[in-house]
Amino acid sequence: MNMSLVDIIYDLPANPKTICLRELFGNDRPIELEIGTGKGGFLLQQARAHEDRNYLGIEWANKYFKLAADRMARWGVGNVRMIRCDAKVFVQQYLPAASISALHVHHPDPWPKRRHHRRRLFDEAFVDAAAKALADGGVLDVQTDHAEYFEQIRSVLRAQPDLEETLFARQNQDECDDVIATNFQIKYQREGREIYRLTYRRRPR
Ligand SMILES: C[S@@+](CC[C@H](N)C(=O)[O-])C[C@H]1O[C@@H](n2cnc3c(N)ncnc32)[C@H](O)[C@@H]1O
Repeated sequence: MNMSLVDIIYDLPANPKTICLRELFGNDRPIELEIGTGKGGFLLQQARAHEDRNYLGIEWANKYFKLAADRMARWGVGNVRMIRCDAKVFVQQYLPAASISALHVHHPDPWPKRRHHRRRLFDEAFVDAAAKALADGGVLDVQTDHAEYFEQIRSVLRAQPDLEETLFARQNQDECDDVIATNFQIKYQREGREIYRLTYRRRPR
């Protein structure tokens, strides 16, 4: 498909309001959100493997955002849109309730120093907003190489009453682990670091 950057990139309205995702994609297929796409490898592979789903990528860093958006345009994937913004603001202020079937977060920045912990993506307000944005039965999956951040993520997810822990089970995970591994996952696995994963499912409303 012929896709230009104009088709892929969406600029958020300056005044926060919930956006219409159906309009953004031009159809009502299920929408999966990835936060912190980096160079977009995961988003691209998923979008190509599942043409019956839509993929929305959020990336804050301009350099990676441009790289990823260019990549989507070059591959001509019609089911991907990208937004450059702070994912915390996006999920809390722009994302409609019950609008996404999955939320993927791979290797969120760990901000290891204690005084920087408040910059972390996962906190109570973010997790509440994510639970609200997930459709019934929708899943949130997260992976990180950072043991201490992993414990914090797990404890904040466990405390969210609308989410329940489930098995980490990406479709065909075994067959295509290499294909869908993210850049950071590949790097850390080469270094022999442990990767921690969690999946939570949105309970029915
Ligand atoms: C450690 S990298 C991981 C990239 C990719 N997910 C992977 O696994 O290879 C974290 C990414 O999240 C992005 N990021 C961090 N905080 C963000 C935020 N609040 N909103 C959007 N993107 C964010 C960073 O710019 C970076 O590209």
